[in-house]
Amino acid sequence: MQKTSYFNGDVSVAGKDKYQQTLTRCVARLRGLLPVAGLRNPKIGTANNQWIWCDGPDWVMGFLSGQLWLAHQLTADPVFAAAARARRPQFRAVLDSRKARDHDLGFIYSLHSVAEWLSTGDAVARAMGIEAARALVARFREDGGYIQAWNPVGPHDREQARFANGRMIADTIQNLALLHWAHRETGITDFREVADLHEATSLRHLVRDDDTTFHTFLFDTATGEPLHGQTHQGHADDSCWARGQAWLIHGFANCHRATGNPVSLDAARRLAIKAKALMGETRVPVWDYALPADGSHPIDSSAAAVMAAGVLMLADLVDADEAAEWRDFGHSLLDALLAKCDLTDDAAAQGMLAHGAGHVPAGRADAMLPYGDYYFMEALMRAQGHSDFFW
Ligand code: GLY
Repeated sequence: MQKTSYFNGDVSVAGKDKYQQTLTRCVARLRGLLPVAGLRNPKIGTANNQWIWCDGPDWVMGFLSGQLWLAHQLTADPVFAAAARARRPQFRAVLDSRKARDHDLGFIYSLHSVAEWLSTGDAVARAMGIEAARALVARFREDGGYIQAWNPVGPHDREQARFANGRMIADTIQNLALLHWAHRETGITDFREVADLHEATSLRHLVRDDDTTFHTFLFDTATGEPLHGQTHQGHADDSCWARGQAWLIHGFANCHRATGNPVSLDAARRLAIKAKALMGETRVPVWDYALPADGSHPIDSSAAAVMAAGVLMLADLVDADEAAEWRDFGHSLLDALLAKCDLTDDAAAQGMLAHGAGHVPAGRADAMLPYGDYYFMEALMRAQGHSDFFW
């Protein structure tokens, strides 16, 4: 079992102070949120930085639990563990509902059940994590070699079935951590095989030759033949959605951490080099790299936070010279978030980061996002030398 860990690394005093002070404010923000939230989980922020809460199962429902377990790791205060554990019935309900279970079981259960198991050794939490991993494996499409992302909603909704069936998406790489954990826990090879196959298919079909990425890719549902890339949350089919690129950087780095596969490390590195080049001087990217970063389009703080956590993880996986470059880049992303998006010293805000682009084509931009907040905390902790997370 993973034990609570306390920082004992080596970062500059100035950096350590700045990031540590922000983490202290993050923990205070969570402590203040608990009586307001009750058992609710944030979905997206309002214009005045209040949370709109999830209304039933939602792919974002685990991010507050993940933050609570990080706060527990930082403080050993049982109030955070109790608040996360009290949410268990909601997570049990998702496991019991075929309509609620989709590819995001990894985000949801790594940060809720696996986090509880790793933090406390609770056997029910472990069993829920394994059950979620089994349900994720069951979504694997042997013909195309991928985990299907979304669900058709019933026999009468042909349009949704056409949209969802045969589609893989970039975000799913984040869910593979649940499978790698389940493989380590149980030794069952299915978990590892499905994670490896989905990762390889992501690399083959989502990553373009120039190291930009498609958000989604479609396969023939009858034969599994690869068809073409297509966006869902990005600007265009041939553009590069900033958060998708960040999901893949963090995800490939995490796959390498789990398996030691050098191909995964190379993919994370190439995608991070590309993202850095596409960003130019900016450090909180425009929401899609096809668009000019001239202030005329929304920026995405969540993409910067996910990328910061990813490149700081990458720094722990490479030699010292390269590590220094990724740490510098990760710190520059964090510094830009602190300069432009930090809400932790705004007493009226309920979350931590402003200016997240949830789904711009659907009209959701410039808002707090629970995943932006979670990865912001993870990146701050990585910058402080922490290396025990729930992935
Ligand atoms: N997984 C959905 C998103 O990144 O918005």
